[in-house]
Amino acid sequence: MAVNSTLIQDYIAKQSKEVCAFIYDLDFLSSHMQTLVAQLPTQVDSYYAIKANSDEAVLAALLPHVYGFEVASMGEIAKVRAVSRDVPIAFGGPGKTISELQTALDLNVELFHLESELQLARLNHLAAERGMRVKCLLRVNPHFDLPTATLQMAGQATQFGIDEMELMALLPRLSDYPHLEVIGFHFHCLSNNLDAYKHAALVRHYVQTAQQWATQFKLNLTTINVGGGIGVTYQPHEQEFDFARYCELLAQLCRDYPHLRLATECGRYISAECGVYLCEVTDIKQNHGQYFAVLRGGSHHFRLPSSWQHNHPFVVIARDIWPYSFARPAAVKVAVTLCGELCTPKDVLAKQVTVASLRADDIVMFQKAGAYGWHISHHDFLSHPHPERVYIKDQTLLISEDNHVTR
Ligand SMILES: Cc1ncc(COP(=O)(O)O)c(C=O)c1O
Repeated sequence: MAVNSTLIQDYIAKQSKEVCAFIYDLDFLSSHMQTLVAQLPTQVDSYYAIKANSDEAVLAALLPHVYGFEVASMGEIAKVRAVSRDVPIAFGGPGKTISELQTALDLNVELFHLESELQLARLNHLAAERGMRVKCLLRVNPHFDLPTATLQMAGQATQFGIDEMELMALLPRLSDYPHLEVIGFHFHCLSNNLDAYKHAALVRHYVQTAQQWATQFKLNLTTINVGGGIGVTYQPHEQEFDFARYCELLAQLCRDYPHLRLATECGRYISAECGVYLCEVTDIKQNHGQYFAVLRGGSHHFRLPSSWQHNHPFVVIARDIWPYSFARPAAVKVAVTLCGELCTPKDVLAKQVTVASLRADDIVMFQKAGAYGWHISHHDFLSHPHPERVYIKDQTLLISEDNHVTR
């Protein structure tokens, strides 16, 4: 299944103003998630990391297929609770304050991923006040080597997780926190890994290490969250992550550790492909011998390409009507830099990419824009209008009013 290009064309045909929109195909998203979950061993619980795309419509589309949602703020907890009062929530993030932890308990969060001893102390204190025990995993920043990936959150000095050496000192003292039930460990060490074999080997290493700690410190280990971090291909030379092979390797791992539950919390791999970002070309010009296309939109809506300094994949949707008597600027069979409308040279979405033809008023459709697109961007810099937010559901186009979908 692919995103519904016929409906995208219909949407473009109906626009009377300059086109600037994110379109998320929820039919594609649901079917993609179902396919992923069907391949995972039953010993693996699949959470969706909502930071990748936390739109209500996206969460609602995923709800029937995921085990739960991974969140990192009170705002994200509220977004999940707006679609379900009781779906499991795992609460992570390096900055959990006492008021956030309190709200999380009020809102029936079932699992906490704790990232420092202070977080253990805070949660233990709140749980004691309520006369309860709270389930948690300890997020580890391990000292072992990791495969290369676009972002690395652990295995090196970062703000994430409990340093493995500190963990070794903490594990014998868990009885200092009697209101916490430490049921396992959480590892989210990298993002955008495209190598299924290396990813599976890493997960096996997590599990072996966690089991070794459990034996050494006599822990009642039941659960290991192996994080997200599965990549999508943004460049033509890259090879897709082999999810089927990954699941086979996970199945072998599960057979070796039948007493454990594993959890994953992917973001990008779940929602990237369901979204496209459409931008109309507002101008084309040459400067210092290079072609530039200026777009209605840019990094204030879609920060991923400038943040990662990559050329984001796109296709050109040609529009043949040019109703003016003045000339239509064009770039034909040349390399063009696609820029946004912001007053900064950093506002670049693809640099010096050769196009067959690109003219003012044509549309550039950025693909794989459903994860870490709108949700990581600085929307109001320069106060341009926001893009339209459009969803495809049951083969119908739905326009969003402030993230609430209407037909
Ligand atoms: C703790 C945690 N879990 C899961 C994810 C999702 O990662 P990805 O989108 O690479 O799968 C992130 C992303 O930063 C994260 O910080």
